[in-house]
Amino acid sequence: MTIRLSFVKKTFALLLCLSLFLSVSAQWKWEQVKPGVWKGTYGTPESYSLLSVAGIKPLDEGLSKLPCTTDVPTIISGITGKQIDGKTYLSLPLAKGEQIYGFGLNFQTIRQRGKILDLHVDHYGGKDNGRTHAPVPFYISSNGYGVLINSARYLRVYIGSGSRKDSPNAPAPRDRNTDKNWSSRPYSDAISLVVPAPGIEIYLFAGPTPMDAIRRYNLFCGGGTLPPRWGLGFTQRTHRLYNAQQVLQEVDEFEKKGYPLDFIGLEPGWQSKSYPCTFEWDATRFPDPKAFVRTMLDKQVRINLWTNPYVSPESSIYNAINPLSGSHTVWCGIVPDFACQQAREIWGNKLKAEHIEIGVSGYKVDEVDGYDYYLWPDAATFPSNISAEQLRQTYGLWVEKITHDLYKAQNRRTYGLVRASNAGGVSFPYVIYNDYYSHQDFITALINSGFCGTLWTPEVRSSKTGEEWLRRFQSVVFSPMAMINAWSSGTKPWTFPEVAEQVKEYALLRMQMMPYWYTTFANYHFNGTPPFYAMDLILSDQESKKMSSSDIKEKSLDNNPYLEAVQKEIKDQYMAGESLLVAPMFKGQESRTVILPQGNWYDFYTGEYAGNGEVITVKPGLDKIPVFVRDGAIIPMMEARLHAPKAGEKVNLIIRHYGQKDGTFLLYDDDGETFNYENGAYSWREIKVTRQKNGKMKGSIAKPEKGKPDTVGNVTWKFMTQAQ
Ligand code: GAL
Repeated sequence: MTIRLSFVKKTFALLLCLSLFLSVSAQWKWEQVKPGVWKGTYGTPESYSLLSVAGIKPLDEGLSKLPCTTDVPTIISGITGKQIDGKTYLSLPLAKGEQIYGFGLNFQTIRQRGKILDLHVDHYGGKDNGRTHAPVPFYISSNGYGVLINSARYLRVYIGSGSRKDSPNAPAPRDRNTDKNWSSRPYSDAISLVVPAPGIEIYLFAGPTPMDAIRRYNLFCGGGTLPPRWGLGFTQRTHRLYNAQQVLQEVDEFEKKGYPLDFIGLEPGWQSKSYPCTFEWDATRFPDPKAFVRTMLDKQVRINLWTNPYVSPESSIYNAINPLSGSHTVWCGIVPDFACQQAREIWGNKLKAEHIEIGVSGYKVDEVDGYDYYLWPDAATFPSNISAEQLRQTYGLWVEKITHDLYKAQNRRTYGLVRASNAGGVSFPYVIYNDYYSHQDFITALINSGFCGTLWTPEVRSSKTGEEWLRRFQSVVFSPMAMINAWSSGTKPWTFPEVAEQVKEYALLRMQMMPYWYTTFANYHFNGTPPFYAMDLILSDQESKKMSSSDIKEKSLDNNPYLEAVQKEIKDQYMAGESLLVAPMFKGQESRTVILPQGNWYDFYTGEYAGNGEVITVKPGLDKIPVFVRDGAIIPMMEARLHAPKAGEKVNLIIRHYGQKDGTFLLYDDDGETFNYENGAYSWREIKVTRQKNGKMKGSIAKPEKGKPDTVGNVTWKFMTQAQ
């Protein structure tokens, strides 16, 4: 027994020494890298990271326009790190009452404090557990700062879970026998995680508001994507086995029936083989791809091609890419190692020669997210020696980057779909989608996309009833991509005759609103403001400051439904651009409540006053999705049309003004198709509405600077509220 004990002691001592030896106490190195952006390096971070893959180029002009700040967020002094066993143990402080948003594209929750998430690129499996299409390790605090953990590893984050012995705010122990306030999850004052690497790079983004922190992150990553104008029109994805004739017929039907259409998506059947893919046209279904694409372009309809990146043995690039692919296959196709430049080139050249150069306008890159049972396992190896884990976390970023760069080289903008992304992908022209199809959760995802520099579409596929069809359609019109995805259902906008007219009305409204949408995306690009975002981001500017604890005490929550409502997670209404509040209706709903923040809000359709800092109940009928407009807002619109304006085409504007206040709006303009805006070929024109002495509103629009783009034709003013 004695012998055994001393053996245990000796082994323990040895292990202790070993662990002391392995636990290196590295130093944090902090530097300000941009106005309001600080980089912290601890130990030796890996060179392969999310930002290195995305190849971000910060948009300095935008960053310099944000509220000037030289104050580093105060959490910096509380950030700790420790290296043990080649891993980095990180802890970032949380204050009492602080709320945390972000950590990727979640579908059911907005506020993340208290959660434990495994950030892992994956298809969404119905639970907010971190496995999602864009598990972006970026978070925003209600205290007005943001943090990015720039690691391409799977990260388990404890967002305010677990209490440290040395916590300055450690919770007091409670006696479960006697104390009814005992909690199984006592207060925690930190976000903690283990990065499986001997160092880490993190970035701090200053506010002052949470929205400013998001803007800084977006601009640091290059600014949000600016889609071509046509990308903001309507798009239909055809049945997966349609041939050229059927697609043509469908396009003609849209035209004949008067439904708008800017781009049409071809699903797997355009390829000679799919799952794995050849990236080559199917000669039976599409005998003359060049002529087909040309005919479509002549009809002002662009072509978007579905693909996944897994290469079929029958593809002409198979042999060339084989030595540059991973150890495992996906559906028996090889997996290009996109961390190798040569693999990127071979794949990219194929796309360029066979699609882009004949006029194809974009891609839908599927299956780059996951599902463990068919993707490569973590034990797969790749010629670049980048781990399977890191490739999984960045595969979406790679396909976005490769295709974006191909279009950029031709000075053409693209806008497409992708099923995975990650931090740094802000400026890639891609919208995320999936197969999950819960209308409610799609709206929550749309809200969360604004926290993590991604775009999301609540696509419409099929429905059991006309009512559901219309409800889903109304929502997708107020999203980054207005789309029906009929790859399996074969549905068309007019599939439900009982609501076909209403669907048309909303598809045309999408087109009428194009000047508003386009400027909203220009704000995403130049100013970093996400086009679709959470109510919390405007509440935090207004109500949360007013909602000091004394206010709350005064107005007991029980008799103040408004304060009670804004304290809950708001995940079924959102902001679209700077002025619109959208409150979707879901199937079976006849009425719903809408939280209207402080300030007067007006009905989008009628201009009627709707409320101010209160919870209202609306019963809009099936024909309408409730949308509200801020006081003084200006919404530039245009005539209803079937296709986006061509480059340089003059467009007559119908400018709406809502409410009682004077308003200003900066209208963005450029050619809508190229990257010439990066060299200054754009204009911002001030639209102003002011109340005259006689009480009437009057609008004016400034001329663009000489030599700058000007596509504004005649202007008609609509004073929505005055007209009552
Ligand atoms: C799915 C994708 C669908 C559709 C389909 C085609 O993975 O989410 O939108 O493209 O593949 O097979």
